[in-house]
Amino acid sequence: MIHFPREALAQELVAALRGQVVFGDAHNGLFLAAPRRTGKSTFLQADLKPALEAAGVVVAYVDLWADPRRDPGDLIADAIARALVPHQSLVSRTAKRAGLDSVTIAGALKIDVSKIGKIDGVTLPDALRALHEAAQAPVALIVDEAQHALTSEAGEATMSALKSARDQLNRPGEVNLMLVMSGSDRDKLLRLVNTYGSPFYGSQITRMPPLGQDFVDHVARLITAQRPELAPVDTGLLMQAFERFGQRPQFFMEALGQSLSPLADLTGRFEQAVVDAASRRQVDDEAQMESEFLALRPLERAVLWRLLEQGPRFRPYDGEALHFYREKTGAPVTVAKAQNALKSLRERTPALAWKSARGEYAVDDAAMHRWYEQLVQTGRWPPEDAQGDLALTDGDDA
Ligand SMILES: Nc1ncnc2c1ncn2[C@@H]1O[C@H](COP(=O)(O)OP(=O)(O)O)[C@@H](O)[C@H]1O
Ligand SMILES: [Mg+2]
Repeated sequence: MIHFPREALAQELVAALRGQVVFGDAHNGLFLAAPRRTGKSTFLQADLKPALEAAGVVVAYVDLWADPRRDPGDLIADAIARALVPHQSLVSRTAKRAGLDSVTIAGALKIDVSKIGKIDGVTLPDALRALHEAAQAPVALIVDEAQHALTSEAGEATMSALKSARDQLNRPGEVNLMLVMSGSDRDKLLRLVNTYGSPFYGSQITRMPPLGQDFVDHVARLITAQRPELAPVDTGLLMQAFERFGQRPQFFMEALGQSLSPLADLTGRFEQAVVDAASRRQVDDEAQMESEFLALRPLERAVLWRLLEQGPRFRPYDGEALHFYREKTGAPVTVAKAQNALKSLRERTPALAWKSARGEYAVDDAAMHRWYEQLVQTGRWPPEDAQGDLALTDGDDA
């Protein structure tokens, strides 16, 4: 698997995080949104983390999706503890030599020498301060898929704790704690910053630039290096394919691999084969969403429809919503029934709806909005069962 390095973007963000950009606000927290599978986690781990480290910053990285059932606060504490390991060896060696079981860093963090990498019973601000003092360096905490913290009260409390750590550790002109939060859905990430009670009220969400022509050109150079007989590669056509794949490198690379395989039975150029694969993928993606939608029970469909239609204005149980459900399912709908339907949308795998600790809802995958808009615009909404539309009114929503 090739990795296309994104150094310039990483450098730009490092400068912003260190407060070196005159009008920037990133030193208060950098919020990056980009759709799923477009390379966020890869960029954060393979480009941003090393760039920060090269600038003398200690980095803790955590992906809140890695284990969605665990308390985000615990996941973050683990990441901080892991980042502490290289710096505590000196401390703990000294402790061992003196015959102590534990040492205390920064008057706050007690480290049990037998359990290196564990943080027990300290608050996140204390743990971050301890890391900062043990490493004698600024600390960056990268929280990937941060919107996941908003689905529980423990997670919300964690976000407030991080904000308070930032306020304690940073001073004008001196950034000791940098916070980077990424998410696959701008609307969900927005809830960290957009209302007065939000933990990072007032911060901006930046759209992380997707991989583009420079990535495609890089891939084209690799192809010509390995297969000179294919030069010149039509990078314009490859870019078209990459865009059609939704700028998701994995699918693009798979299609390239197949088209370039000696077993591929191509009559024309491989670039066109990749474009064709991208078109097939688009059709498949839409078919997938359609079949998920059609597999829902009537009331679940009506609730999802309402959620897609209303976006951030969605109120699941107000009079208008209940009227909408009734109109679509042909039967009266109680709040309790609507609640059950919404719950089952959230509990499906993959989940179709997302709920924050404050009771706000969103579709789980932002791509569904694009799919919905497209069908509405072309007059194809709602999708219908092959047998006709009967299932929508069978009233089976118990
Ligand atoms: N800079 C890159 N160069 C090559 N492949 C990449 C790059 N960034 C991402 N990918 C590939 O794209 C896929 C999705 O990337 P990932 O970082 O997991 O996306 P996200 O976190 O946005 O969902 C992975 O298979 C990864 O290998
Ligand atoms: Mg990711």
